[in-house]
Amino acid sequence: MIYHYPDGQKAIDDINFTITHGESVALVGANGAGKSTLLLHINGTIIPRQGIVNIGNIPVNEKTPEIIRKKVEIVFQNSDDQLFMPTVFDDVAFGPVNLNIPAEDVRFLVDHALEQVGALHSKDHPPYKLSAGEKRLVAIATVLPVFPEILVMDEPTSDLDPFSRRTIIQLLKSFHHTKIIATHDLDMTMELCERTIILNKGEISSDGPTEVLFNDNKLLAASHLEQPLCMQSCPVCGKAG
Ligand SMILES: Nc1ncnc2c1ncn2[C@@H]1O[C@H](COP(=O)(O)OP(=O)(O)OP(=O)(O)O)[C@@H](O)[C@H]1O
Ligand SMILES: [Mg+2]
Repeated sequence: MIYHYPDGQKAIDDINFTITHGESVALVGANGAGKSTLLLHINGTIIPRQGIVNIGNIPVNEKTPEIIRKKVEIVFQNSDDQLFMPTVFDDVAFGPVNLNIPAEDVRFLVDHALEQVGALHSKDHPPYKLSAGEKRLVAIATVLPVFPEILVMDEPTSDLDPFSRRTIIQLLKSFHHTKIIATHDLDMTMELCERTIILNKGEISSDGPTEVLFNDNKLLAASHLEQPLCMQSCPVCGKAG
């Protein structure tokens, strides 16, 4: 697949990969490497023009957005792209309401989703008044009530305090369907993703077991990455990670 933005900026350059059901895959790489652009192809926010994206045996195209969005839930990098309703409750309820789930069940699902991310206290607030981290938690909560087959997340832990980051990592650990996570949080990647794809200037520079890739310092440096802290030697005693 190849993708140029309408202004001519190349974002994806001839990439090709397959993810099978139940895999947990990280997408990492420098700023501007093309991670978000690639994720936007997976839920049909961007319709592929040169190349094919298949979700199972369904191609992502102008005719399939509804069916694709039932299978793929995305948490955008910018929470303001996710939250557009007057209150947090309305935003989290949006998915289940569209699935025609009865109102009482929707209320339960919303409370449960907000509880899971630790944001129940924000339920009646307007999203635009929340802090960046609070918005991130609510954005993640919006995808929880609809039980997608494929969960796509763009920087799920950015802006989060350490406690909330841990809550989200534990939550993602308990999600056993397919996960595709773009992130600069390589420690989280070590915990959650057995496979990593490294993007470099719109191309896949590596695709393989996370631990193998993260042990290759040359490869990491060439992709503007650093070994996660959990793999680095102790700065005091020098003991290996
Ligand atoms: N709407 C847009 N119009 C034109 N070019 C864009 C647009 N969005 C992104 N780009 C360009 O496409 C390339 C890939 O951007 P993308 O946002 O996919 O990178 P990324 O890997 O997600 O980066 P980051 O780590 O900063 O989130 C960059 O060169 C970027 O400048
Ligand atoms: Mg991005």
